[in-house]
Amino acid sequence: MKDLYQRIKERVSPRVLSVTGIVCILGFLLLVFAVVHEEQKARDAYRIKSSVYLTLKGAYNDYQALMLTEITDASAVQQAQEQKQFEEVERRLADLRRIATNPKNIAALKDIHDMLPRINPAVFNSPDRSDVVAAMTEIRERFLGIDMRMAQRGAELSATQSAHLIAEGLMGLAAITLLFMIGKILISQSNSMQTMQVEKDTQLAAIETSRDGIVILDDEGRIIFMNRAFALLHYLSGLGRKDSIGMKWSRLYDARSSEMVRDEILPAARDKGFWHGESTLVNTRGQPFTAYLSLTALPDGGFIGTAQDTREKREREKETENLRLQYYQAQKMDSLGRLAGGIAHDFNNILAAIAGYAEFLTQDLEKGTSTHGFAEKIILATSRAKSLIEQILTFSRTNDQRKGDLNLTETVAEVITMLRASLPSGISIDMMDSGPTTYISANPTQINQALMNLCVNAQDAMEGRGRLTITLDSVQADALDLPPTQMVDDYPDGNRTAPVYIDSLGQGRTVMTVGHVVTGQVYARLSVRDSGSGIARDVMEHMFEPFFTTKEVNKGTGLGLAAVHGIVVSHRGVLSVDSTLGEGSTFSLLFPVVERTGVDEEEEEVQPIAIDTSARIMVVDDHDEVRTTTCLMLQRAGFEVFDSKLPSEALDLIRDNPSHFDLVLTDYSMPEMTGAELAMAAVALAPDIKFVLISGYAEAQTREKLAAVPVIRDVIKKPVTSAELIKRVHEVLAG
Ligand SMILES: Nc1ncnc2c1ncn2[C@@H]1O[C@H](COP(=O)(O)OP(=O)(O)OP(=O)(O)O)[C@@H](O)[C@H]1O
Ligand SMILES: [Mg+2]
Repeated sequence: MKDLYQRIKERVSPRVLSVTGIVCILGFLLLVFAVVHEEQKARDAYRIKSSVYLTLKGAYNDYQALMLTEITDASAVQQAQEQKQFEEVERRLADLRRIATNPKNIAALKDIHDMLPRINPAVFNSPDRSDVVAAMTEIRERFLGIDMRMAQRGAELSATQSAHLIAEGLMGLAAITLLFMIGKILISQSNSMQTMQVEKDTQLAAIETSRDGIVILDDEGRIIFMNRAFALLHYLSGLGRKDSIGMKWSRLYDARSSEMVRDEILPAARDKGFWHGESTLVNTRGQPFTAYLSLTALPDGGFIGTAQDTREKREREKETENLRLQYYQAQKMDSLGRLAGGIAHDFNNILAAIAGYAEFLTQDLEKGTSTHGFAEKIILATSRAKSLIEQILTFSRTNDQRKGDLNLTETVAEVITMLRASLPSGISIDMMDSGPTTYISANPTQINQALMNLCVNAQDAMEGRGRLTITLDSVQADALDLPPTQMVDDYPDGNRTAPVYIDSLGQGRTVMTVGHVVTGQVYARLSVRDSGSGIARDVMEHMFEPFFTTKEVNKGTGLGLAAVHGIVVSHRGVLSVDSTLGEGSTFSLLFPVVERTGVDEEEEEVQPIAIDTSARIMVVDDHDEVRTTTCLMLQRAGFEVFDSKLPSEALDLIRDNPSHFDLVLTDYSMPEMTGAELAMAAVALAPDIKFVLISGYAEAQTREKLAAVPVIRDVIKKPVTSAELIKRVHEVLAG
């Protein structure tokens, strides 16, 4: 009832309620008034009728003569006589009086309560029954035809007519209002039930679709509800979810996880009313999952729990960490390259001087003497040092090498022939070449070096036993499954930092990719697979760094893969590694395939050069040792040599005597201006002079810069042997 009242209050506006209330009260009051009034009228009428009755009754006692005396209650009769309906009564009463005055008549009268003729029993004692019957019939006809009640009611109606009408109207209105209200309440109740249902459905749908798992347990630990996310987190299918309702929560987990929940989580939640934290749980089928759980104790002894799957979050964190690591790796390789390149450049100048002077010694000293032997040893040592520097420069991509169309199949075949001779008998080597002959734009020596370094590493990893497979095929860039950070539409120009991607795929497998992949490009893929030890992730993260080695002292310098890295990146290629511990590793080098443009460089016919030592050569280099050694080499070959420490000095000399010099041999990086700038300034003074650049640090862009300066006929890389220098100088003078 209280609930209904509450609903009425909620659904019906207060104004309607108060109006209805007032109408009801008014109606009720009027009804009371009408009833009271009717009662009064009825009582009055009764008095009138009673008077008539009593009077007549008095007459029955003497049935010889029915006497009708005067109506005693004159005022009531007066009142009744005012009503038209009573005129008829008057008239009939007069008749009755007349009958009654007849001494032979016997009278009877209807009782006002039952409308039946009531005849005094004395009447029946009349000796003449037929008279009685006749009298009765007459009375009935004359008197009983009047409906006393009707007459009374008519009087009452007219007396209380308005009150009745208003009361009935108001009561009708109140009844209609009440009906309307009840209807409205019923409708609103059904509406509110519908709304409540919709609300309930919406809430359920929201709980159901929540990304967080939700579970409700009763006081005995039975599951009474779980949403989809909770079921999914526990690897439960639709059926499994249904089955788990009514089950104990512990049936969801394996023994260890149940123990942990029972002994740690639930007691804590019970004590404090709440528990939350990240946990790794295992379901009954042994499938683990990590989730952030929160458990709240309910007043009835049960629990409500939420579980947030943290796998996605962890994956995102891992991805961010990977990106950070990749960026760091790429930056590290870049700065290591600069550092190593810088050291190698300075070291190269020193080496050039040592090698040059040692060469002079071997030329001057008598062959067979011990001093001649020492000089030869110095040359041998410098050549070893030179190959080391070569590797470092290759890694730092500062020894720009001439590239041409290279038949990769041939190069690979050459390396395999060399390898076969040196591989231990326990290692077999297979070559798989699928597809047509592939040409790439490359420096053959470097490709050779890269492949060799990979094969030597593979051999070391197999420790004398295993299978080495070299595969050559071509692949579309888009077929490579690489992260978007490594895919580019055009190869970036300038100082290229090769992006690095590394990922652990579980069960000891780690993959890594270095370099940009250009979409739509076809790549020649050269892979070296070994069945060796495999590479751990922490080794893979560092293996391309120069001087990183896991090998014993004197067994590895840690420059092999650093050089491979440099070679691949300077060829606009990609390097990828896929390795599994205990199973082996695959290193793949990808080089962009080129349309063959013309004749291979090495196929060009070399014309014999006529030796002419009459030329006058100027050497410009700010490094005293390098300049002196170069001058000495040329002088010893018979040339007339001049030297300048600075470009400005050289320009002064040319300006003073423009036709004096045939060739200028200049360093590239110098104070005041570069070798190329010197050449351009000098050619304005003496257009016939030929220029040769000699540089230990041939930047990637050097060759492009030189293409714009036609007076520069050649670029010689430091350190250079005197034989190489003389040969190149002769070529330029002859050309
Ligand atoms: N195929 C491979 N299998 C297992 N580990 C390898 C393989 N290739 C390279 N590594 C690891 O990478 C490290 C670096 O290789 P890298 O070729 O740069 O240097 P190195 O072989 O140790 O020395 P160097 O090549 O200068 O003689 C190796 O020491 C080795 O730990
Ligand atoms: Mg190596």
